[in-house]
Amino acid sequence: MKFFIDTANLEQIQEAQDLGVLDGVTTNPSLMAKEGIAGDENIKNHYKAICEIVDGDVSAEVIAIDFEGMIAEGKVLADLHPNIVVKVPMTKDGIKAIKYFSENGIRTNCTLVFSPGQALLAAKAGADYVSPFIGRLDDISSDGVQLIYKIVDMYNYYGFETQVLAASIRSSQHIMQCAEAGADVITAPLSAILGLLKHPLTDIGLEIFLKDYKKLNS
Ligand code: E4P
Repeated sequence: MKFFIDTANLEQIQEAQDLGVLDGVTTNPSLMAKEGIAGDENIKNHYKAICEIVDGDVSAEVIAIDFEGMIAEGKVLADLHPNIVVKVPMTKDGIKAIKYFSENGIRTNCTLVFSPGQALLAAKAGADYVSPFIGRLDDISSDGVQLIYKIVDMYNYYGFETQVLAASIRSSQHIMQCAEAGADVITAPLSAILGLLKHPLTDIGLEIFLKDYKKLNS
């Protein structure tokens, strides 16, 4: 199971990289805006900076919503670095673009997926990753994790090679639920990844070990 970090913040990406468990990064236009990254050149340089920190796939999203625009933008993004994966929204033009990219050696991540039918289309078009947004489904009292189970089962049944990238993760518990559901990848904020470290019995156990050591060694 791969761990991606869902941010455009370079310090957080570096912190996750230093932990030694990071396999990639996902960004989106909102995450780039949150870091104050604007303008074509700054955006491209920011993607390059991310690729220099992490030796793994980095999703960079197209802004265009028409087929021709997506193709033009996707080619520019893919040329920035071999690890760039072009993130394309789940729309009619998006599916056409994913098909085009898959036939032309450009890797894709189909984003904004909220149903098994959308995931089926993305796989048939040849997406390398499909990103079901589980947190946003939970937000409207739907079951995001159930969607991961359904897509994983469907892909396994038909032997699709598209990787299920569980996105819009809100907590460490979401990460573990996606692991149980068989997601190939999770993308999560740093706080959710670091939350996996925590258990009170670990803290209590460590305190006792150190106290016992000090009794005889001080
Ligand atoms: C996925 O790649 C998206 O960047 C992301 O997971 C969206 O999450 P949000 O619902 O927290 O915005």
